[in-house]
Order: sequence, then C-alpha cells, then structure tokens
Amino acid sequence: MVQAGGSVAVLCGILRLVPNSCQKLGYSPSRCSTAIRRPMTDLFDFKNRRLRFAVVGHPVMHSKSPQIHEAFARQCNVSLSYEAIALDPIAFEQGVRNLQAGGMAGLNVTLPFKEAAFRLCDEVSERARIANAVNTLTFSEGDQVAGDNTDGIGLVRDLQQNLKISWADARVLVVGAGGAARGIVQPLLETGPACLVIANRTTSRARELAGSMGSPHRVYSCALDEVSDSFDLVINATAASLSSEVPALPESVFHPKSHAYDLAYADQPTAFMRWALGLGAAQAVDGLGMLVEQAAEAFWIWHRQRPETAPVISALRSGVR
Ligand code: ATR
Repeated sequence: MVQAGGSVAVLCGILRLVPNSCQKLGYSPSRCSTAIRRPMTDLFDFKNRRLRFAVVGHPVMHSKSPQIHEAFARQCNVSLSYEAIALDPIAFEQGVRNLQAGGMAGLNVTLPFKEAAFRLCDEVSERARIANAVNTLTFSEGDQVAGDNTDGIGLVRDLQQNLKISWADARVLVVGAGGAARGIVQPLLETGPACLVIANRTTSRARELAGSMGSPHRVYSCALDEVSDSFDLVINATAASLSSEVPALPESVFHPKSHAYDLAYADQPTAFMRWALGLGAAQAVDGLGMLVEQAAEAFWIWHRQRPETAPVISALRSGVR
C-alpha cells in the first residue's frame, strides 16, 4: 500500500468499545479497528500524567507516527503516549476540540484535514501560513490552539542531511500543485535553487501556486507536457502514486545525475521511483525519511528536544522493506 508522505494512520479501538462516545467525540465509528482496544478511561490517562498526543486523519489505519514518536520519546527520555485516531470528516473541528478538552497536549494532522486544521488555529507559524495547511497542533492554557507545518522542513532535512543531496544553484521541478506541493515549495526555495518549476496536470493550479510565492524570476509554472528541459531534482508531490500512476511528464525530464524524490512511500519502490530509474535518473527515493523528519520537527515543537532520526528511519526501513 502506498501512503502519502507525512500522512498516515492506525485506529483507536475505543471506537468499537464505546460507539456512542465515538459520535460524541467526532470520531468515525465506521473506521473502528480491533487493532487497539482500550477502555475510555485509558484514553485520558489522568493517573499516569503522561503527556498525551495523537495523529488524527481519515483514514489513519497504517500510520507510522505512533511508532516514530514513541521511538523519539525513548531516545529523549520523555514520558508520553501517542496514538492514532480517526476523526469523522464532517465533524473534524468538534473532534479536535473534544480531544483538547480531554487532555491531549498536541496533535499531528494528516490527510484530509491539514487545511481544516489551519482554519481552526488561533495562531499559526509563518510556514503554515504560506502552506495554508497545518500538520502540528499544540494546545496551550486557555484553550488556545497553535498550528505549524513541519512537512517542508522535513523534506529539506531528508534531502540535505540524510540523502546529502545539494541543490543550491540546481534546477528543481516540483510536480503537483495540491496541498502537498504547497507545503514544500517555500522551504525548497529558501535553500537557494537556481530555479524552481511547478508543473501540474491542471495548469491554473500550478500558476496560482507559483504566483503565491512572490519570486517571479525563480519560480515558474507549466502543464505536465510543457516541461521541456531536464532537472537536477524532480519531486513528485502529486497524488498519482496513491493509485500507482505516474504523472504524464516528458521522459526527457531526467538526466544521468538527476535525483527523483517521491513524497509518497510504500513497502516497495513507488511507480514514480521505478519510472525515474528506468529513464536513467541517478537516484530515486521515497518520502519515508521526510515522514520521520517532519515528526522530529513536531517533537521539537512539543518537547524542545531533537531526537536522532537516522536510527528511526533505519528501523522503519528494515520493517517495511
Ligand atoms: P494533496 O493534499 O495530497 O496534495 P490534492 O490537494 O488533492 O492532494 O492535490 C493532488 C495533486 O496531485 C494535484 O496536483 C493533482 O493534479 P490536479 O491539480 O490536476 O488535480 C495531482 N494528481 C493527482 N492524481 C494525478 C495523476 N494521476 N497524474 C498527475 N497528477 C495527479
């Protein structure tokens, strides 16, 4: 199964045990799982006074975020609980408010709720404002909700620190102009590429995203079939991998030193990765490293500690590959 980078899931079995509460909390009873069964009292963990966090999405069935945050917590000696909770799309805000009232300290937000999460925040970071999307919520005294977006910095750290890919003065192609692309364009621009082209199936969305970056001499937009050159770094931010498809780009998009990066990840190389390598790209990687790096940034926001990500990435890789 292919998953969107930074966007995953497991389900909370309490939904099955207390279906009436599911409705009340804004959870989706239809997504109940037998994977984790907990009585309602455990959800709030008042006795242990551990900090409590969760990833919310729909679905969140295959989320690796609980594994990642628990690994970080062990490393940094932080006492926390972290679970995956499916929220009902038609009652997302109510679900978040109920989790906040129930004692959660913060939430990660995955598909399809990142834009909705942005809208419910009392304050947001600059990078979340530019992305128009939030993947990290922090609850503070007085019911305030602060939002941040760690996806872009997660990608940049994976590229620079883990993969040692340098693209200063390089030509970068971002494929896609949806929420995932919006979260990464500005952080990529800040690293100083020679130019950044946004290509999308629907050209108007690419044009709008490029225009919103306010760098007309470095950011360009076009349709997929209008991409006319090769690029040093090609990032697939489309949802095509989720259905094992490849965006309809010209084959000339790669040269022998090109790096291909798919924001999606899977237990096998994605269709985009296979396609890129087949066309002669030097390297093709998936978004698992970005997932761990965005989680590390969220961990920093919540705990002011920076966990080591490499062992967590390796553990996940050996588990999935
Ligand atoms: P997300 O939040 O995951 O980015 P989204 O906002 O719905 O989701 O955006 C999905 C992106 O993937 C869009 O850029 C979409 O192209 P359109 O704007 O033309 O819809 C792109 N996309 C989805 N499936 C695709 C496919 N099979 N080929 C190319 N692009 C695809």
